[in-house]
Amino acid sequence: MFGFTYYTPTKVVFGRETEKEVGRLIREYGGSRVLVHYGGASALKSGLIDRVKQALDAEGLFHVELGGVVPNPHLGKVYEGIELAKENKIDILLAVGGGSVIDSSKAIAYALAEPEKDVWELFKKKRKAAGCFPVGSVLTISAAGSETSNSCVITNEKTGEKRSYNDNIARPRFAIMNPELTMTLPDYQTESGCTDIMMHTMERYFTQGGNMELTDEIAEGLLRTVMKYAEILHKDPKDYEARAEIMWAGSLAHNDLTGCGNDGGDFASHMLEHELGGMFDVTHGAGLAAVWPSWARYVYKDCMPRFVRFAEKVMGVANEGQGDDAIALEGIRRMEEFYHRIGMPVNMRELGINPTDDQIIAMADSAMDASGGKKGSAKVLHREDVINIYRMAL
Ligand code: NZQ
Ligand code: ZN
Repeated sequence: MFGFTYYTPTKVVFGRETEKEVGRLIREYGGSRVLVHYGGASALKSGLIDRVKQALDAEGLFHVELGGVVPNPHLGKVYEGIELAKENKIDILLAVGGGSVIDSSKAIAYALAEPEKDVWELFKKKRKAAGCFPVGSVLTISAAGSETSNSCVITNEKTGEKRSYNDNIARPRFAIMNPELTMTLPDYQTESGCTDIMMHTMERYFTQGGNMELTDEIAEGLLRTVMKYAEILHKDPKDYEARAEIMWAGSLAHNDLTGCGNDGGDFASHMLEHELGGMFDVTHGAGLAAVWPSWARYVYKDCMPRFVRFAEKVMGVANEGQGDDAIALEGIRRMEEFYHRIGMPVNMRELGINPTDDQIIAMADSAMDASGGKKGSAKVLHREDVINIYRMAL
């Protein structure tokens, strides 16, 4: 195993009606002027925004609201939020929503700490952030894990670039997680979320070199648990226990717990998906499901022990002397079967897109631009590999 730093400073307040505690938590983290940031209609329709505002009022906290964050959140909305926050002397960001809203809030928070600089420079890797205003969240979808992660993903809607910036200073101060809030999700969003959660652990699992037995066991347990409850929610979206299991898994899958002792992870599937998100605006988790089987078949021979272990311990493939190759491929096939059972695609056609070869090459070039010319641990991918995988995933 490799050495590691594990830093997960977010206070998690988990359970029914926990959103009532939001005012107290804002005070605890020194906030007095709050920008309440949210997405489209869902948090308004459910009455959550009103309940949050009441909780802030009860603590006598100043607040302004900014909605309209879209999935694959736009840089334009970030700029709008920065202006609004400056006008109102905001000192803390409250994200009410999912990964898109939390990431938009993190981007605003970075910008407020360095008001003279363009925040997009961070995403273009032109500089490192020197600071970040505090962010807290009321989570409404279990998926991205941004509520405890160090990551922030923004799409420049003018250029079609979807780019991430990772820094521990952006890890949220607190996350309010009431599983009931996720019960209004459409099935497709629930299952895309479950896919993303699994992928955050799988990106850390399919690696070369260092591995830790404890980390592997945690990762495998997390994956089996998410698979079990993803199927339950597909049939019964109101099951509180299932919602709770998935919600907690979402945070643990992306707060680095399942990466301790490895080499930092693979994350090539995320690279491949981010280009689909930037060019076709697909739902992140579904986009991951559409590329993962092709990625897996392309790389598994280079990372055979991990694929065999995954097949046996996560996908339940029995070792009956059929050989490593057959075991690994059966694990991948069973994952595809699982995706289908929960309504996820296993290729781009099923995802509803059909990129031309020119678009595939443009995505590969953009992916290489975003990742410095290569990406991956299970197998290090270069431009030609990325093109090959996109073509396989058609
Ligand atoms: O906008 P509203 O109306 O709220 O609708 C949202 C949105 O359409 C809806 N939704 C959320 N909570 C709901 C609800 N609908 C009904 N009831 C509720 N309780 O769900 C849709 C998706 O929301 P979004 O925030 O986009 O989902 P998610 O959490 O999957 O976030 C996706 C974004 O996060 C990025 C993705 O790339 C994508 O841009 N990621 C961020 C990461 C991070 N910061 O750590 C890591 C991930 O790998 C990922 O890349
Ligand atoms: Zn993800």
